[in-house]
Amino acid sequence: MAEEGLFPANLLSPEVQSVLPEGYKLRALRRSDFDTGFLDCLRVLTTVGEIGKEQFEERYEWLAKQGDSYFILVIEDTNASPPRVVGTGALLVERKFIHNLGSVGHIEDIAVAKDQQGKKLGLRIIEALDYIASQTGCYKTILDCSEHNEGFYVKCGFRRVGLEMAHYH
Ligand code: ACO
Repeated sequence: MAEEGLFPANLLSPEVQSVLPEGYKLRALRRSDFDTGFLDCLRVLTTVGEIGKEQFEERYEWLAKQGDSYFILVIEDTNASPPRVVGTGALLVERKFIHNLGSVGHIEDIAVAKDQQGKKLGLRIIEALDYIASQTGCYKTILDCSEHNEGFYVKCGFRRVGLEMAHYH
């Protein structure tokens, strides 16, 4: 039986799965993804650091305890031997008091392996996260990105709203 992932499979968009290239699989992050290429994928986005297996599993367990608030999905290329994670993205569901106890989805950490970019995997990851957001009752999905990636998110159906502020610690 396939290892259980971070969230239930019924939150994975069947439409997205059906349009992925042959042998590419949409699934939830798994505890065993320490050495399937997931961290290398994130290295395309930013610094990851030297995370050990134990640290990875500790963080995974913490995330798994957050219930239906934290969703990390991956696209796995099962044509590769061994199968390799080639794309990932995360959705955090924030539950508010405002807007009648509304929920907002925050998209984070989108990354597609360098040699897999330009195959619409980034678009499919966003569509899959948007599906989870709508299934969990979010009234909108928001994200921060660089000017460089604005065109990509416009193609994914997003538009520029507001201004980002940051306070680094
Ligand atoms: N600017 C403008 N358009 C773009 C860009 C860009 N930077 N990147 C892709 N597109 C276009 C594509 O040309 C395509 O257009 P088309 O439908 O007319 O053919 C469309 O957007 C969909 O592109 P995909 O093939 O799905 O893009 P890809 O799989 O290469 O993924 C991504 C895009 C995720 C930005 C990838 O290049 C990547 O991993 N970059 C490095 C990490 C990164 O910057 N991640 C985003 C950080 S922001 C965040 O995480 C919230």
